[in-house]
Amino acid sequence: EKGAFDHYMRKEIDEQPTAIAQAVRGRADGDEVAFESLSPGAFADVERVHFVACGTSYHAALYGAQLLRDRGVPARAYLASEYAVTAPPTEDGTVLVGVTQSGETADTLAALRRGAAEGLGTLAVTNVVGSTAARECDDTVLIRAGPEIGVAATKTFSSQVATLGLLAERIAREVGGSGSTPAGLPAALDDVPDAVETILADSSASALATRYDDSDAYFFIGRGTGHPVALEGALKLKEISYEHAEGFPAGELKHGPLALVTPSTPVFAICTGQHTEKLVGSIEEVSARGAPVVAVAPRSERDVAAVADDVLWVPETHPELVGVLANVQLQLLSYHTATLLDRPVDKPRNLAKSVTVE
Ligand code: F6R
Repeated sequence: EKGAFDHYMRKEIDEQPTAIAQAVRGRADGDEVAFESLSPGAFADVERVHFVACGTSYHAALYGAQLLRDRGVPARAYLASEYAVTAPPTEDGTVLVGVTQSGETADTLAALRRGAAEGLGTLAVTNVVGSTAARECDDTVLIRAGPEIGVAATKTFSSQVATLGLLAERIAREVGGSGSTPAGLPAALDDVPDAVETILADSSASALATRYDDSDAYFFIGRGTGHPVALEGALKLKEISYEHAEGFPAGELKHGPLALVTPSTPVFAICTGQHTEKLVGSIEEVSARGAPVVAVAPRSERDVAAVADDVLWVPETHPELVGVLANVQLQLLSYHTATLLDRPVDKPRNLAKSVTVE
């Protein structure tokens, strides 16, 4: 039931503090990570991690792959529909992780089956107990977000990233990965539910949606973990508002997309607190073409705020978790834009919650 909310999507955005807390509960003790379903040493022989997923879950997978690489573990995310037709050569020591909220997405199941047929170990990261992915994979880690009804995935993205953050820590620890990542992600996850609550209680996303709702197009840029968040911000906006939206890695702007930037195309710049100087450069590139810039950033990022026209603030957190908070602001932006344009938020045209055909 959506209760006091107009839409399931709005309700599910609001449920994120609980969803994230559930994803993390009982799984981290300091920086030690344990999953109820995985025995100690489950990843001891892993040499690399391949993720397969679609849509929003693919963006979570891109995020997760980066968290692994930051810890010195080779990892890559593939679009499941592409992996099913052009999988890389099989190498021993590869674990194939399917990230799928429903556990029923045909493209993701096909990619997992292809990997299994080649002899890879498979792991499902899913929200649905007993789903096809959970039943078919060698192992399963549940994201524990609770049921998601709105077609637009919201709380499950946050729960997926939280879970993949823990998984990255666990795999890196077992394979002895050594990266330069700042310590403390598992412990920092404990504070993310409160940080999301802070955003939900006081976001200027609604005012910004009103300011920009007659734009020609919307662009989202980010670097590092800000890149999958930029892709996700654009996907959410296009699917529920029907407005043209694109996400780019910030550095790619000058290799083509900059040709589309005008005073009628607001640019949302996701600032994670890493690679800030380069992001400021990208913001200056689009500002010089007259585009309004909205930074999504922690308050400490004064350099970004100084070059942006507006800021959607996020609370301070571990640098690798800023993207989760930034994404909540972008969910609110999409939601408010879609309601201003009177779109059927929970059931966008042409889309289904679970895509069971390839
Ligand atoms: C977007 C959305 C879709 C799904 C995709 C994969 O809001 O919901 O892009 O993320 O169809 O679905 P799952 O995660 O069930 O495999």
